Amino acid sequence: MNFRLLITGFVLLALQSCYYDSEEELYPLSVCDTTEVSYSGDVIPVFETHCYSCHNNSTAASFGENIRLENFEDVAYYAGNGSLYGSVAWIAPWSAMPDYKLDKCSQNRIKAWVDQGMKQN
Ligand code: HEC
Repeated sequence: MNFRLLITGFVLLALQSCYYDSEEELYPLSVCDTTEVSYSGDVIPVFETHCYSCHNNSTAASFGENIRLENFEDVAYYAGNGSLYGSVAWIAPWSAMPDYKLDKCSQNRIKAWVDQGMKQN
């Protein structure tokens, strides 16, 4: 067996396995701060961009299974039963929401808001 060829092969393999650069890790666009999230500042903006098209008070009946994310009491209900974070993080058995996956920061902000006691702040 050509030992030298074998060694070269291993070295090449090893070098290649080191080559894992993810743009997100190398150049984080912004830091996702979840130390103190608020309903109005962190949760509602996510809903406005990604959820109200189906879950606001007028669209919910036709497109959002009557789930109205404009009402704080309803949001608190879905947050409390686990379905709010479960659906945005695509955790079974909850339905994955929306049909594309939210960025990790938005998911983490929603989780932080739930974990911090679902305040109406
Ligand atoms: C294109 C329309 C649409 C969008 C956008 C959408 N939803 Fe939904 N959502 C639905 C429908 C329809 C259902 C009920 C059917 C189902 O469970 O798949 C639902 C169900 C849910 C449920 C209940 C899940 C369960 O398993 O009980 C939650 C919570 C929810 N949506 C939250 C959200 C959130 C939060 C967003 C935004 C991040 C969002 N949805 C975006 C249409 C949508």
